[in-house]
Amino acid sequence: MYSPPVSMVSATIDRCLPVTSIRTLGIRVADVDFWKEVALFNANAIVSTARRLKRILEWPIHKLLPVAVKAMIMPPNNASISNKTWNDEYDSGAWDFLSTTKEVGRYSVIVGYCLHFKPAARVLDVGCGTGILARWLSGAAISSYLGIDLSEAAIEKARQSNIQGAAFAVADVTAFKTSQPFDVIVFNEVLYYLRNPEEYLSRFARCLAPGGILVVSMWHHADGVRTWKRLRAGFEELDRIRIVHVPSGLRWDVAVLRPR
Ligand SMILES: C[S@@+](CC[C@H](N)C(=O)[O-])C[C@H]1O[C@@H](n2cnc3c(N)ncnc32)[C@H](O)[C@@H]1O
Repeated sequence: MYSPPVSMVSATIDRCLPVTSIRTLGIRVADVDFWKEVALFNANAIVSTARRLKRILEWPIHKLLPVAVKAMIMPPNNASISNKTWNDEYDSGAWDFLSTTKEVGRYSVIVGYCLHFKPAARVLDVGCGTGILARWLSGAAISSYLGIDLSEAAIEKARQSNIQGAAFAVADVTAFKTSQPFDVIVFNEVLYYLRNPEEYLSRFARCLAPGGILVVSMWHHADGVRTWKRLRAGFEELDRIRIVHVPSGLRWDVAVLRPR
């Protein structure tokens, strides 16, 4: 915001108080200097208050709202990110944080659910990224693992990791077809990027072997809340665990679903 320089404020006051009126009012020169100082002080105070007010008004008020309220009033904003964007982000390391400690909770729960509900499962990991879940599952008692992802860069990194027993393919969720049956299909932090997530979940559920399950993980923000609500209509929730990473306050819900 524009702040008038001291000299300009001072000159304006001089123009407003011509010598004659100073004489008429009997104001001494020293008093004029005093009032100039007062006026200058007030002008600066007004300018800095206005600046502070502007900063307050620009502050994103929605940050104060609880997640459920945001889900009601804010539009979803992640659907349809191009695979070029995903490739650039994977190449730049923007998603490397998925391998950090704060994400450990959700991978642990997903692995736990796979082993508890479907020992020796054939696992399909939809939107597998660089294969972090595959690494977690590589020593576990599963029959097979297939990870698919839109991003060639992510799949390349996954393949370079040489994870034992894991296969990867570049594929778009919206076009993926298979005749292979799976016991567990995982949607790990991927549903926010699909326009009608419940539609794709239903489509993939047709690839489940009898008694098969879907495992869904979403972090706690407006899109996640909205999507859980939509999934409840078509799927029975067998279980759900809420994970809180205490130092960062990040939360995830991981649920086991089966078609109704
Ligand atoms: C937040 S990352 C999660 C990666 C992985 N599931 C994990 O948690 O480690 C989301 C992933 O979904 C993938 N994705 C987004 N839209 C997709 C689509 N239409 N088909 C396949 N994968 C998609 C992205 O390329 C990205 O790797």
